[in-house]
Amino acid sequence: MKRKVIFDTDPGIDDTMAMLLAHASDQIELVGITTVFGNATIENATRNALYIKQRFGLTADVAVGADTPLVVAAGEATTSVHGENGLGDIDIPAGDYQGIDKRAAHDYIIDSVKAYPGEITLIAVGRLTNLALAVEKDPGIASLVKEVIIMGGAFGHNGHTGNVTPFAEANIIGDPHAADRVMTTDWPVTVVGLDVTQQTVMSSEYIERLRINSARYGEFIYQITRFYADFHKREIGMDGFYVHDSSAIAYAIAPELFDVKVGAVRVITEGPAIGHTLLKEGAKSYPIDEWSGKPQQRVCVQVDHRGVLDLYMATMAERVTA
Ligand code: BDR
Ligand code: CA
Repeated sequence: MKRKVIFDTDPGIDDTMAMLLAHASDQIELVGITTVFGNATIENATRNALYIKQRFGLTADVAVGADTPLVVAAGEATTSVHGENGLGDIDIPAGDYQGIDKRAAHDYIIDSVKAYPGEITLIAVGRLTNLALAVEKDPGIASLVKEVIIMGGAFGHNGHTGNVTPFAEANIIGDPHAADRVMTTDWPVTVVGLDVTQQTVMSSEYIERLRINSARYGEFIYQITRFYADFHKREIGMDGFYVHDSSAIAYAIAPELFDVKVGAVRVITEGPAIGHTLLKEGAKSYPIDEWSGKPQQRVCVQVDHRGVLDLYMATMAERVTA
């Protein structure tokens, strides 16, 4: 049976690549897309989701989410990474992109989880504000969610500790209070952080192959990733780019590609280490312990990066003959 997924996202170039992977996969039923401020303004993120839905025939609902974090200031959309329009500044035809669900994203999540108890996987690849608002408003949904998969955070494995500060990743520092709430809620969370997403790189040669192999998606992905690839080349000196958000979808499809560690996860919500994610493994007790009694979550620490790249290529190319 296909996994029912609500994809919480701030599209975003790599968000869009992940959305298309979820759509193309025969393992996933993309039930809904909920948007959040981050890589783009909430207006652009939502417009982009609707544009992708229309252009590629997605059937998922689209619900508008939070444009401001729970406590910290919103800051600016990260247009230097994703372009002014959030899709690498490709031409998006002007139009009235219809079909927005009337409910706010967090209400959409609550209603859907209750409609399909035990069946919905939430895959969140932006700030975690919508998920935190949902569980805040209706704590009862926690026991009804199948799994929560998060792209965010960095735990220091494979040398990856942060991408906004030395110790914080973008989605988590964007709303650290929401992230701490989601990590400490008693639902099964798996974190797909920089520890593994920065181990997987789509090189320019890979994207050229995808462009040829995937008749349906290849050219579009090539076009939206020019801006993203330029950013990686300019700022990090890389050929190609990290595979952040698609790694979370890959985990949902093929968890065997990842190794995990288990323990309570907390997020630092103030001070110089704001946005830092910390996993406490083991049962050792301490005189003071803010991890004690918190749910045991799963953190990805290793990845078969070739496996993720092959999965992406195979899934996107499949539709060529479908
Ligand atoms: C995360 O930040 C965003 O730029 C990407 O879409 C990804 O979700 C990586 O830190
Ligand atoms: Ca994202």
